[in-house]
Amino acid sequence: LTALLSPTWFVAGETGSWRILRVEAVKGDSLPAARRLSVCGPGDDVAGAARWSLQGVVGHARYVQSQEKAALGAVQPALGRESATCAAFIPIRKSAAWWELAQDERRAILEERSHHIAEGMKYLPAIARRLYQSRELGEPFDFLTWFEFAPEHADAFEQLTALLRRSEEWAYVEREVDIRLSR
Ligand code: HEM
Repeated sequence: LTALLSPTWFVAGETGSWRILRVEAVKGDSLPAARRLSVCGPGDDVAGAARWSLQGVVGHARYVQSQEKAALGAVQPALGRESATCAAFIPIRKSAAWWELAQDERRAILEERSHHIAEGMKYLPAIARRLYQSRELGEPFDFLTWFEFAPEHADAFEQLTALLRRSEEWAYVEREVDIRLSR
């Protein structure tokens, strides 16, 4: 068998280039405490025992429209910038009610009513982001979200998460763990 999708693994334990600073259960159950996190692709060796691991794949965008795609492409930075020594890893699961909605209804909630993309875009290029899909892999979370930024943008990132958590979209979030890291 040939793997069609190459998952990325987030492995928490005693090793890894990211030091875990705090783990906050925003909603629902937390994840076990661990000291370090490694982000691994296919072929990477994971050293040591894992406290927990989560996997996701970078899929195709579901909701982004052409203008937004162009706007994002023009400003979004790459991961791995030298200055971006802070990271946030935020696994999220949405409710059955969310998944029962039609695609157009989900888009309306996410963007027309919650302004997720328009508001998020204001924080680029300070924040580098990557969205991993996890639901189809039978994982405990639907999404693994990953963000990298310099220490001077940590406050801005707090503002953004606070804003999103007050939105209509977040009423459909039933589990969210906010993990902060540094390297
Ligand atoms: C840094 C600025 C941000 C930008 C520009 C941004 C942009 C986006 C975009 C364009 C999508 C839609 C992808 C698609 O079409 O499938 C998306 C999805 C998502 N974002 Fe953000 N985002 C940002 C910050 C955040 C933050 C801080 C969180 C978590 C606290 C977050 C969580 C999510 C989740 C869970 C999804 C998947 C939603 C779903 O498919 O139901 N985003 N984001």
